Amino acid sequence: MSTASAIETRRLGADESGFRTAGDLIRSGGLVAFPTETVYGLGADAGNETAVARLYAAKGRPRFNPLIVHLPDSEAAFALAAFGPLARRLAARFWPGPLTLVVPRRPGDGIADIATAGLATVGLRVPASPAAQRFLKAAGRPVVGPSANRSGHVSPTAAEHVLADLSGRIDAVLDAGPTAVGVESTILDCTGATPRLLRPGGVTREAIEAALGAPLAGAETPDDPEKPLSPGLLASHYAPAAPVRLDAAEVRPGEAFIGFAGARPPGLAGAALSIDLSPSGDLVEAAANLFAALRRLDRPGIAGIAVAPIPAEGLGAAIRDRLARAAAPRS
Ligand code: TXA
Ligand code: MG
Repeated sequence: MSTASAIETRRLGADESGFRTAGDLIRSGGLVAFPTETVYGLGADAGNETAVARLYAAKGRPRFNPLIVHLPDSEAAFALAAFGPLARRLAARFWPGPLTLVVPRRPGDGIADIATAGLATVGLRVPASPAAQRFLKAAGRPVVGPSANRSGHVSPTAAEHVLADLSGRIDAVLDAGPTAVGVESTILDCTGATPRLLRPGGVTREAIEAALGAPLAGAETPDDPEKPLSPGLLASHYAPAAPVRLDAAEVRPGEAFIGFAGARPPGLAGAALSIDLSPSGDLVEAAANLFAALRRLDRPGIAGIAVAPIPAEGLGAAIRDRLARAAAPRS
């Protein structure tokens, strides 16, 4: 159980005993970080008000920012909240997977009100990774799962990242190695007539529009990070200590460089450090490497981070969104 003072954070293996212990901890009100195919989440029993309150405290997360509820399959999701025909179609096409659907809550759903920050809607996700599936089955109940980082920090794509942020503040982390997708789930608001993109992520807009046969409503775009449609989509997020410069045509003195597709801009030879997200220009590989790169560059002695142009299509939309937030002015 977590308390305000430091607790010992256990590292659990992705084996029979690890999953069993993780499930037991969740059911007894504990906080367990768990892998999904996108990023590691910080799990707590979604129906346990005290556990969820502890989770907000462990992350330092503002209480107005609602949490995604994770379920092992679509049937469990349909039983919990109100799905219209479009939400059902999206669930059938993309679950399990890196997609979160915001749908109306149902009275008596058993979800703690602080988990949804008092909203009449709830964000639901059925993750695909085998480790996430085994963890959710072991927990045997809906599990809230924000990214397992301190609020405002970069999301974790490995157990080490979780421990760097939350060691001593959570009960355990289930270690199943690095995550495959590397950026968080796409969030769609399905409470209106047309689904609306709240956060670009692991399922591309192109794939969603193809499944719907129609365009999505107004996007949360990197060009407009000051106007979040979702309470948690604050402009400044994913923030390393040094300022981030997007679409950089050159590397300035003292800057580190995040490259893509083998870009070699002027000044690169003098870069403090340089990481190419995907030398071959593969956006899937770049997404998987993004957060680890931001963490590596979050250290003293780096005056700024110059980022090469990255295409806005496919997973590039999510990559650009996260980099735009990393570049946004800090409050
Ligand atoms: O890939 C992911 O989505 C990861 C993994 C662990 O599932 N989770 C994740 O959670 O990224 P978090 O809390 O870091 O981001 C969830 C976002 C927040 O910006 C929150 O405001 C928004 O989802 N959200 C949650 N419930 C919502 C709701 N009912 N309406 C609108 N936005 C909601
Ligand atoms: Mg997060």
